[in-house]
Amino acid sequence: MSKIRVLTIFGTRPEAIKMAPLVKEIEKNSDTLEGFVCVSAQHRQILDQVLELFQISPDFDLDVMRENQNLWSLTSDILLKTKDVIAKVNPDIVLVHGDTTTSMASALSAFYAKVPVGHVEAGLRTFNKYYPFPEEINRVFTDNISSYHFAPTDKSCKNLKNTGIPSEHIYKTGNTVIDALLYTVKNHKEQPKGLNLNPDLKTILLTSHRRENFGEPVKNICAAVIELVNNNKDIEFVCPVHPNPNVRKPVYELLSGKERIHLTDPLEYAQFCTLMKKSYIILTDSGGVQEEAPSLGKPVLVLRDTTERPEAVEYGTVKLTGTNKEKIISDVQNLLDNKSAYKKMAEAVNPYGDGFAAKRIVNVLQSSLHH
Ligand code: UD1
Ligand code: UDP
Repeated sequence: MSKIRVLTIFGTRPEAIKMAPLVKEIEKNSDTLEGFVCVSAQHRQILDQVLELFQISPDFDLDVMRENQNLWSLTSDILLKTKDVIAKVNPDIVLVHGDTTTSMASALSAFYAKVPVGHVEAGLRTFNKYYPFPEEINRVFTDNISSYHFAPTDKSCKNLKNTGIPSEHIYKTGNTVIDALLYTVKNHKEQPKGLNLNPDLKTILLTSHRRENFGEPVKNICAAVIELVNNNKDIEFVCPVHPNPNVRKPVYELLSGKERIHLTDPLEYAQFCTLMKKSYIILTDSGGVQEEAPSLGKPVLVLRDTTERPEAVEYGTVKLTGTNKEKIISDVQNLLDNKSAYKKMAEAVNPYGDGFAAKRIVNVLQSSLHH
């Protein structure tokens, strides 16, 4: 029996974190699966941090990232360059993840080559095509192209069924982000480097990078941070700043040099996990952080108006705060002042997975694709 040829394509930091456990699981099953890894390198530095941590050496590196890149050139570069990789590997399946330009363009490329696509983290929806932009349409598009849908939760399975995807093509697997998180917190204890944090203060962690938050919303977030540190002498903010110039420029202009506000380059994943564990509150517009923080028992205030990850909101550990300055201030202040409100949100819950998502996905590949 010949081995099943599996080509995994990803390109940004969060895709790499979430695909790493799957790449490793495919390697472990090398008696039945032959794995190939292609990185678009839509992200460069923050992708390489993850590849190094998980010791992944891609078979193909498309090196597409450009300074302040745009969606048109990024999409066409990935589409064209993956064409050649798919032709060389001749895979039985292409695996893509989530909702980035890399996921969407690679899925399209595989479809044009008539290779079946497996979509990891399928079925997430806000049902608003411009929010998050362009991710909502990227995931709808990728789901439509895919033949195997690896959905993390009941809700994501239901979203897929509601769009007419047959149940037998949908597999509830949990989210591989929990595989990555559990592995990392168990095996790595690295402290965040270059941060001089005061152990007597409450740490509030902030990350933001969504396109919808460019401009006024980022400025509002920064203004709220300044007011919060001025009003509360017992807190400090830590902001690992995303390398996107649309985020980096305003954040450094508005927040650098301020007392009890620490700006830093993006942290390597293991250091970031340590920082999440140490934090008192997390403010973020990140998808991945919204999934990880609840399992660490950290209250999360989401700097967005909608989320495709409603499960932890329903459990009460995540709250949609948005980007209005006064609302951010009042939601953070409430958690600082009101012990019972804090306690309620700091419950450790884990609606997104149990650490075995990659195993389940590999089981599906082995049972469905054997020659
Ligand atoms: C991308 C994804 C978004 C995902 C986010 C995770 C799309 C359209 N967007 O957004 O869904 O949530 O990644 O972080 O797929 N840059 C660097 N070094 C890096 C990475 C980025 O300098 O390692 C800078 C470059 O100038 C680059 C810019 O950031 O052009 C934007 O990167 P891009 O991937 O286009 O958008 P993100 O905002 O990172
Ligand atoms: N992360 C990291 N270092 C940082 C900030 C975030 O390793 O400095 C991790 C975080 O734990 C999560 C992932 O990056 O797993 C989320 O990436 P991002 O917020 O860029 O993208 P999203 O999840 O919103 O697509």
